[in-house]
Amino acid sequence: MSDNHPSGATEAWNRFHAAANAAHGARIVDLFASEPDRLSRLTLDAAGLFIDLSKQSWTRAAHDACIALAQASGVETARAHLFAGDVVNTSEGRAVLHTALRAPDGADFRSQGEPVSHEVEAGRARMKALADGVRSGDIVGATGKAFTTILHIGIGGSDLGPRLVWEALKPLEPAIDLRFTANVDGAEIAQALAGLDPETTLVIAVSKTFTTLETLANAEAARDWLRARLGDEGARKHFAAVSAAPDKAVAFGVDEDRVFAFWDWVGGRFSIWSAVGLSCAIALGYEAFAGFLAGANAMDRHFVEAPLATNGPVQLALAHLFNRNGLKRATRAVTPYAQRLRLLPAFLQQLEMESNGKRVTRDGQPVAQETATAVFGDAGTNGQHAFFQLLHQGTDIIPVDLIGMAQTDEGPAGMHRKLLANLIAQAEALMIGRSQADVRAELTAKGVDAATIDRLAPQRTFPGDRPTSLILAQSLTPESLGAIIALYEHKTFVEGVIWGVNSFDQWGVELGKTLAVRIQGELEGGARGAHDPSTTALVERLKG
Ligand code: F6P
Repeated sequence: MSDNHPSGATEAWNRFHAAANAAHGARIVDLFASEPDRLSRLTLDAAGLFIDLSKQSWTRAAHDACIALAQASGVETARAHLFAGDVVNTSEGRAVLHTALRAPDGADFRSQGEPVSHEVEAGRARMKALADGVRSGDIVGATGKAFTTILHIGIGGSDLGPRLVWEALKPLEPAIDLRFTANVDGAEIAQALAGLDPETTLVIAVSKTFTTLETLANAEAARDWLRARLGDEGARKHFAAVSAAPDKAVAFGVDEDRVFAFWDWVGGRFSIWSAVGLSCAIALGYEAFAGFLAGANAMDRHFVEAPLATNGPVQLALAHLFNRNGLKRATRAVTPYAQRLRLLPAFLQQLEMESNGKRVTRDGQPVAQETATAVFGDAGTNGQHAFFQLLHQGTDIIPVDLIGMAQTDEGPAGMHRKLLANLIAQAEALMIGRSQADVRAELTAKGVDAATIDRLAPQRTFPGDRPTSLILAQSLTPESLGAIIALYEHKTFVEGVIWGVNSFDQWGVELGKTLAVRIQGELEGGARGAHDPSTTALVERLKG
């Protein structure tokens, strides 16, 4: 690793690493005894969320060093630039203003000095008009029937957010159902269309660029499906598009009044707050969508106003950084103890890995530290019966984010308490582990013979000291969901600032796309390109 820290931060990094080295070997559970204020110092409230970072491995000195690192890395200045609409996406010369999308009416956000809030409000009004019209039956399909299903087409940031929001908030018996297709694997759209009636289906194609191969292929397939029943003119009434390149959507054949624009200052993975959320706004109702925006806006205000030491996104980022850079932990698990949030790990994979999976700084120099971790996970308790074995007894220490809801009114009474018990128990078990002496004592008390104890004790010992971050909302509502997503967005931004990378571009996805287009031509019988022997053999084997 180079010494290429953001200016002024080298000393803070040195202090950080010294504190991390000193923290090695300190067991988390013992830190509660040696640091009497640990619980109060490392728990905080942020926009209705309770965040507990006391089960992280950081000592008081390490935590202080982390805060000093955030200060020295210019987190506060970078945050001011973000909200001011300055060019923070330097490689693409863009402001980054997803926060403007969830600000209340009357806000005055500017992108590079140009006012944007008025346009944002006008865009929201158009979304509301379509959502209300479809829901009330004032806006109907070509044959006069009400829309009962929306097919949302998009991929990456144009898919993961809407999918997560719908799964999290959908009613048990939705008046309007929402289906998704993203992959260019025809199996997905075949399933999505199965049993659907074109007369009652509204297709919404979502693509920031409107050039994405997968989305265009799915949009063409859906349009053909509509046309086969409704004819060209009829099909137009069943098709809407969302894009930051509205002219391309119109060129594709979408009626202008059915194209919903957003702006180049909205990154794909930060776009759920824009018209990218249109299908959710229709299927959930605009009021729910507005609540979702309001929850995120509450987190924005917290992020801007709270001091670094009690700032939820900053503290979550620092806990992650301490694990990643201080203790060299390269992966992180995310386990929402809420079935409705089971897609959160997939959403965070894009948010964190596409944003901070970078190896050069904003200035193009090799980055001085390890950057984003690999993120994986599934809903608890399901994950407990799959990958938690490795978390408890594997050779690597994998920090875990645990997300839960204090209450739910879904399902039979009592089940939620069982779920919560598991959430709390896992956080405790990961931290305290189980000593061999303890295992031996238990087996002895049960009358197990000495040889069996010798054989079993090492298998049944848990080292513990596995760190967790816990995020608790009162219940899963549009507001709390908005706050959780915004929490992670700002956490990702803070990490990017401290690592010195641009969190808002994604050049790393380009090469594969370019090669795929070339290879597609070869698979379709075009001239063979120059490849390595393995690639050539694959093309030969698979070309039609
Ligand atoms: O391939 C990466 C990516 O560019 C993501 O950043 C983006 O969310 C996704 O593709 C979809 O892009 P678009 O919304 O332009 O179709």
